[in-house]
Amino acid sequence: MKILLTGGLGYIGAHVCTLLQSRGYRVVIVDNLVNSSKQMLRQLLAIDSKNPPILELLDITNTKDLEKLFQQHDDLSGVIHFAALKSVNQSIQKPLKYYHNNIIGLIELLKVVEARSLPLIFSSSCTVYGQSDVLPITENQPFKPSYSPYGFTKQMGEQIIKDTTSTNEQFKAMSLRYFNPIGAHDSALIGQWPINEPENLVPYITQVAIGKRKELKIFGDQYDTPDGSCVRDYIHVMDLAEAHLLGLEYLWSSKSNYYVFNVGLGEGVSVKRLVKRFEEVTKISINHRITNPREGDVPIAYAEASKIQTQLGWIPKYSIDEALLSAWKWEQYLDSSGLSIDST
Ligand code: NAD
Ligand code: WQD
Repeated sequence: MKILLTGGLGYIGAHVCTLLQSRGYRVVIVDNLVNSSKQMLRQLLAIDSKNPPILELLDITNTKDLEKLFQQHDDLSGVIHFAALKSVNQSIQKPLKYYHNNIIGLIELLKVVEARSLPLIFSSSCTVYGQSDVLPITENQPFKPSYSPYGFTKQMGEQIIKDTTSTNEQFKAMSLRYFNPIGAHDSALIGQWPINEPENLVPYITQVAIGKRKELKIFGDQYDTPDGSCVRDYIHVMDLAEAHLLGLEYLWSSKSNYYVFNVGLGEGVSVKRLVKRFEEVTKISINHRITNPREGDVPIAYAEASKIQTQLGWIPKYSIDEALLSAWKWEQYLDSSGLSIDST
């Protein structure tokens, strides 16, 4: 079977690609390299050259290119939609860029996918919940007004997909609300590869550990949490990848048209504790200092993770320590190989 991954050269898409390849699926990757590099394809080939993904370089907001792509690949069994811009900060500076890319991109994709009734998985985010009144966060918690245009694109994206599934009995879709994906492929040949200064915690930690950055700023330690720093639900990216495959398999045999699942371990870990875990598993001390809180950060977010486990049979395999170690191995690999994401 052939699966299309929009944004498949990005962090999560590339990891899902390796999983699909290893299970014998053929993969078509669509990407416009806005936040990735062709080098990622070479890395994917280094992991598995026997069942290589097909790369189609195009922008999903381009209706004609998309239509042509789906005519060319008329034997698809499903689509996983990763392609989006994801910087919370940048989305506040450039809201139109984000609404255009993430919303127009989704709408154009939906037109071709719905017309063919192809099962669709959408990369949503725990950001849709904001600071939930209930912890752990269940899927039926209401959306809170988002701090950023990025967050709104996930809320709107889910609604647009849900509304579209209600117009066509044959069209099925699923929103996966990721909590905090971290870590890298076991081979350490792919991982999270920020083009600019990382906004996410783990790549920041690994860049400090390797000596690329001077210090980690811990954004606030006066929150109403056990140690005052923010609490999140970190999940290994390969466990997250499995959730996509289980999601697709579920859609192929499901009766309903639209599903929503949290994807998290259900374990709240503070920033301070995560830094400590990293120091313990790698034996490297992380130069850090406490700074002001980052605007828009919610103090605590962790998932009620049982729905996906019971309904899809998803069983996470990796511990947080393993995820941190894999992220560290990837950072070391990047350092020793001299690879650069800029050189396409
Ligand atoms: P990423 O930026 O690494 O990957 C996204 C990929 O999509 C990139 O390769 C980029 O070049 C491509 N892309 C963006 N716009 C495109 C367009 N118009 N046409 C073609 N390609 C386009 O991001 P990621 O971390 O892999 O995230 C994947 C998805 O998961 C995104 O939708 C993101 O919003 C969502 N998500 C990510 C996280 C996280 O922490 N990484 C958490 C929750 C949700
Ligand atoms: C984790 C914790 C920071 C960096 C964001 C998006 C969300 C989702 C995932 C993505 C927070 C703290 C971070 C640093 C720090 N979407 N931190 N120093 O904020 O949970 O979620 O990424 O596409 O929509 O908002 O993840 O990794 O940025 O931060 O202290 O240098 O680490 O305050 O508590 P977050 P994160």
